[in-house]
Amino acid sequence: MAYNVAIEAEAVSFRYPAGTLALERLDLRIMEGEKVGIIGPNGAGKSTLLTLLNGLRLPEGHLEIFGKAVSDKKNIKEIRRLAGLVFQNPDDQLFMTEVFDDVAFGPRNQGLEESEVEQRVNEALQILNSRELYNSSTIHISFGQKKLIAIAGVLAMKPELIALDEPSGNLDAFHRRKLIDWMNISRQTIVVTSHDLDFLWDTCTRIILLNKGMVVADGQPDTILKNKTLLLQNQLELPLRFQV
Ligand SMILES: Nc1ncnc2c1ncn2[C@@H]1O[C@H](COP(=O)(O)OP(=O)(O)OP(=O)(O)O)[C@@H](O)[C@H]1O
Ligand SMILES: [Mg+2]
Repeated sequence: MAYNVAIEAEAVSFRYPAGTLALERLDLRIMEGEKVGIIGPNGAGKSTLLTLLNGLRLPEGHLEIFGKAVSDKKNIKEIRRLAGLVFQNPDDQLFMTEVFDDVAFGPRNQGLEESEVEQRVNEALQILNSRELYNSSTIHISFGQKKLIAIAGVLAMKPELIALDEPSGNLDAFHRRKLIDWMNISRQTIVVTSHDLDFLWDTCTRIILLNKGMVVADGQPDTILKNKTLLLQNQLELPLRFQV
């Protein structure tokens, strides 16, 4: 079975207007269906990398999402359809007052019939066991609940590529487990950043370690997440399950 290339990055750099070089000449190829965990210390460039994947920020160098160059303005609409990004901070993501409208925003934007939109919202909330928030207001829910709604909003669009920035942070054990279960059955390409290395061990087929905007290591979870020296050198620790 032939797999498509989901993400192709050649010498991709990103500098913030303030001057920080957040990503430096990244070369990366991620295939369709891969579940890739991005790890690295605070400020390594993880979140910045995710914001490039749906064209939110434009990098230097060459970046393609499913064969479409992000630098080409005419591809942006299609790239936004193909790639969904869940921000690290849900307050950057949620913008409708009602949970239903927020989760429905993407599907409605895709031009789906209202009955289909409702089905998508139900399905997305069901995956995260958050149906009880269906009639809530986005301003009167907890931070962890906002995080769940932000994730549901992207799931409801059914993008080919899902970029999740620290999704398990602030989730209780039950909802964290729901997310793990979904990631393990999903056929979508998933790129996920996390400081919760146990979560990545449970969900990823590949780990990329970033530091100072560069790839320090790229390989199977078994090689990277059990390498105490490598993790310590990069301000990280072994996943809890490997600490004795
Ligand atoms: N909006 C911004 N403007 C200017 N510089 C920024 C901005 N956001 C991040 N940076 C800088 O870019 C670099 C990469 O930041 P980024 O947020 O991508 O790191 P990260 O790996 O996601 O860190 P964390 O683990 O804390 O989430 C850091 O040096 C950071 O200070
Ligand atoms: Mg970050």
